[in-house]
Amino acid sequence: MDKAGQAYWEQIWIDKPVTAAVDPTDGRLANHVDRRLHEMFVRILGPLRREGRRLLEIGCGRSRWLPYFRTHYGFAIVGVDYAPTGCDQARAILAAAQVEGSIICADCFRPPEDLLNSFDVVWSYGVIEHFDDTSAAAAAFANYLRPGGIMITVIPNMRGLVGLLQRLANSPVYGIHSLLTAAELAAAHRAAGLVVEEVTYFLAVNFGVINVERPAGFRTWVARAIVGLLARVSMAVWALEERVTRLPATRLLAPYIVCVARKPST
Ligand SMILES: C[S@@+](CC[C@H](N)C(=O)[O-])C[C@H]1O[C@@H](n2cnc3c(N)ncnc32)[C@H](O)[C@@H]1O
Repeated sequence: MDKAGQAYWEQIWIDKPVTAAVDPTDGRLANHVDRRLHEMFVRILGPLRREGRRLLEIGCGRSRWLPYFRTHYGFAIVGVDYAPTGCDQARAILAAAQVEGSIICADCFRPPEDLLNSFDVVWSYGVIEHFDDTSAAAAAFANYLRPGGIMITVIPNMRGLVGLLQRLANSPVYGIHSLLTAAELAAAHRAAGLVVEEVTYFLAVNFGVINVERPAGFRTWVARAIVGLLARVSMAVWALEERVTRLPATRLLAPYIVCVARKPST
């Protein structure tokens, strides 16, 4: 069911430096994607701002978003991840941001009992597409939600150009993704008993999501050079969007898919 596995993720985090928490006030072009996600969260989470609300990030390894959810919306925050180094890095990012939160090192499919049916928001970013059975994973994630709570899921759009380039640049990484369209992601959430409130392709372009990491060699050098060039194209498009007009997110070019779904109230 798990297309990547715990050892894969642990190695990913061991090889990566800790980064800073998301900061939507950072106006640099390189922060465009975070600012656009921030706009979405303000719309969805802004109305939920109330004392005592709880948010869980599933697959929180090295999460840059958990401190943001605490500081901007006041959520009590919890993260769960089965990669110990990813958990340590998530804790380090919280500590650097001086934000309180709980990081639990566990398999999200074997949840600690006290976490079930207890969250107002369950958020995951680049996690659910790593399991063969997307609706079974969505159902497992939804077990953490209280009735009426919402699940926000973001995945890379592997059925668009980003997916094709990922396959060419690094096919083993491409292979650990379920290839989902927005409609299929929504259907998986519905099959899990959730009510889909919105499902969209998100952002005009971001070629920076392509993961080139692979053994050193000529092909790697070429792939890095091409992806580096495409990342500059993305930045040029973002500059245009910030100065002139927003461009539509399309199934072909959008780098992400977002699904927002609600657990029915009983
Ligand atoms: C692509 S990373 C996303 C990390 C983080 N959300 C981010 O945006 O940087 C996927 C994360 O999901 C975690 N993960 C995958 N399967 C898991 C499972 N069954 N239980 C807990 N964590 C899992 C991995 O360890 C990894 O940290």
